[in-house]
Amino acid sequence: MLLTSNRARTCWSCHCLCCFYFRILQASENCNSGKGYTGCKGSTLRFWQRSQNSTTLLCFCRILHTKLSKTAKDFTAQLCIHNQEAKIMAVPPTYVDLGKSARDVFTKGYGFGLIKLDLKTKSENGLEFTSTGSANTETSKVAGSLETKYKWSEHGLTFTEKWNTDNTLGTEITLEDQLAKGLKLTFDSSFSPNTGKKSGKIKTGYKCDHINLGCDVHYDINGTAIHGAAVVGYEGWLAGYQMTFEAGRNRITQSNFAVGYKTDEFQLHTNVNDGTEFGGSIYQKVNDQLETAVNLAWTAGNSNTRFGIAAKYQIDPDASFTAKVNNSSLVGLGYTQTLKPGIKLTLSALLDGKNINAGGHKLGLGLEFQA
Ligand SMILES: *[C@@H]1O[C@H](CO)[C@@H](O)[C@H](O)[C@H]1NC(C)=O
Ligand SMILES: *[C@@H]1O[C@H](CO)[C@@H](O)[C@H](O)[C@H]1NC(C)=O
Ligand SMILES: *[C@@H]1O[C@H](CO)[C@@H](O)[C@H](O)[C@H]1NC(C)=O
Ligand SMILES: *[C@@H]1O[C@H](CO)[C@@H](O)[C@H](O)[C@H]1NC(C)=O
Repeated sequence: MLLTSNRARTCWSCHCLCCFYFRILQASENCNSGKGYTGCKGSTLRFWQRSQNSTTLLCFCRILHTKLSKTAKDFTAQLCIHNQEAKIMAVPPTYVDLGKSARDVFTKGYGFGLIKLDLKTKSENGLEFTSTGSANTETSKVAGSLETKYKWSEHGLTFTEKWNTDNTLGTEITLEDQLAKGLKLTFDSSFSPNTGKKSGKIKTGYKCDHINLGCDVHYDINGTAIHGAAVVGYEGWLAGYQMTFEAGRNRITQSNFAVGYKTDEFQLHTNVNDGTEFGGSIYQKVNDQLETAVNLAWTAGNSNTRFGIAAKYQIDPDASFTAKVNNSSLVGLGYTQTLKPGIKLTLSALLDGKNINAGGHKLGLGLEFQA
């Protein structure tokens, strides 16, 4: 036991910290269960680092600013029983999450042409409140959304209410791990009072060792559509199939297939959509600071290949730098800095590499407050 002060202990016994650690190890989605933050009492993990030999975890905590270290073995044994199970179970991701690590490197930390403000608060009784507002610097259009979420952990229930400035109201109810372990049911409905448009979704998901299944039924003005997906995983290899069946047309309108390979540091993802759209991505975690991703896409019968590369560099616990470029010579740059605990600033720029002097570049500014 290397921990000395009580405050240090508080930090260590956070589930969020532990989840964070396991997320890095690509283990579990349970980190989002909301149970995590209860022990934190204002201290959260800022930065983690695994030692070269992977037996030691170095952890920097928010309140303490102290470097704590402890062997991962002790750590898991004491604190992470819940997540450890998830790790051993090796549940593959859902179909839409295949290739997500690479996608995140391409998309997170940017917001070209937008001035964006996010507010996230959480009350003692578990009510989460998220509001976002953004202004498009070109069209001057202002958009906003509000979301409240209540988690009733004992019963595996989550209630979400949404509203946005396009005047769409949404309600979502999720029931997880109740009827059977690994089974998730979601009822999602949205309504637009202006247009009278209504839509609804019933989503079912089931996951267990090596298998992740999903079946969603959507109904809206276009009729009813059934989306089915299955992913199987074995020793890092993943294969998935996704299809859409439109009841009105009585036929399968979409049929996608994906194959990939995934370890903690490396992920390969390839997919074929409807037999005509081909895509592939490679994600690599080079070290604790640097993540890189490559993305390729092409369409059958068309020799135009689209490709891009992206990287994220964690400068220090509070700051990260992101960069990407694609074959259209569009260069994206991003910088994210935690100004104070709970206040995050994101700056981004999109430059047209072919006309670097001609202007037409886009800038973005984002501020995120979390309490
Ligand atoms: C692993 O690395 C840490 C710190 O670098 C060291 O203290 C520990 O003894 C090492 N463990 C083994 C098994 O080599
Ligand atoms: C209905 O179908 C049309 C054309 O396929 C599509 O553009 C539109 O977004 C669909 N509407 C909804 C609510 O999904
Ligand atoms: C690059 O991207 C454009 C789309 O912006 C595409 O039309 C072009 O053919 C792509 N490929 C190459 C090799 O330039
Ligand atoms: C190239 O990158 C820019 C910015 O990231 C993106 O808006 C654009 O769609 C990309 N083009 C292609 C062909 O992928």
